Amino acid sequence: MTRADADRSLPGQSERNPAGSNGFTLPPGEVQVWRVALAVSEPRCRQLSELLDGPERERAARYYFPRDRRRFTVARAGLRLLLGAYCGVAPALIRFSQNAYGKPALEGADPPLDFNLSHSGEMALYAVARQAELGIDVEQHRPDIALLDLARRFFAPSEAAALVALPAPARAAAFYRCWTRKEALIKALGLGLAMPLDAFTVSLQPEASLLDLRGHPGAAAEWLLRNVPVPEGYTGALAVRGPGWRVRVQDWDPDRAARPGMTATTHPVSSAQQ
Ligand SMILES: CC(C)(COP(=O)(O)OP(=O)(O)OC[C@H]1O[C@@H](n2cnc3c(N)ncnc32)[C@H](O)[C@@H]1OP(=O)(O)O)[C@@H](O)C(=O)NCCC(=O)NCCS
Repeated sequence: MTRADADRSLPGQSERNPAGSNGFTLPPGEVQVWRVALAVSEPRCRQLSELLDGPERERAARYYFPRDRRRFTVARAGLRLLLGAYCGVAPALIRFSQNAYGKPALEGADPPLDFNLSHSGEMALYAVARQAELGIDVEQHRPDIALLDLARRFFAPSEAAALVALPAPARAAAFYRCWTRKEALIKALGLGLAMPLDAFTVSLQPEASLLDLRGHPGAAAEWLLRNVPVPEGYTGALAVRGPGWRVRVQDWDPDRAARPGMTATTHPVSSAQQ
């Protein structure tokens, strides 16, 4: 490691251990997805809040409801614990930057590490890989929303039409598949809502795929969309640019295990799984 390399490293990331400690290996071509439970006890939440930096604590304090504050705190602290484990640094020393649309990135990791996260209800999903353009989304199902109205407003016309054509009992699952796939792609591109939601179409079927992206004829083959297996009442999706990625899904309950990886269970993922 040269002096310049060392200057780019995260503080605490040792020369002997550039790839990280805790046994978190990240093979090339693998996306590791973590499913994290956000429902933790109050003492555990207080402990986790110690890992947040000043702006994160300010953000947490702005939440009106304690439940939302807890969810944000655990999601952020969980991200720090995970990234810290991959990089071999103390979680509180992780530094983030963000692009013009708010997509966070890890500063100074050597080798670089790409990630994205999403949280909804009591669960967070994190996707981590090297040299990957990736986005992840989870949505908790809400019984009170007008699916068809939302689809007509936010989806591409062909997606909304595909939803209307389904038998009514099949619509909710298809709606969330479409929504999370679109969000995952937007998040992978890092554009947030600057990306028009009707500029691309995804499948509503159990098999996840990008159908087209306006102005990019080869995009459907270029992007991998995957369902992320999540508990009943949620839908999850992952988008990553490039073919041939393997996806590994693991669980971490921060209320039961101090660090991710202590009690991890792995779940297989296929394009049609839901
Ligand atoms: C901000 C946005 C990227 C995701 O928002 P979301 O679905 O409400 O929230 P998620 O929990 O999935 O993701 C939030 C995380 O994404 C990350 N993020 C923020 N901006 C991002 C961007 N431009 N690109 C990728 N990731 C981003 C952050 O880590 C954020 O975590 P934080 O809240 O702890 O800071 C944006 O796409 C959005 O507001 N979308 C929702 C609106 C909508 O109408 N969707 C219609 C879908 S059909």
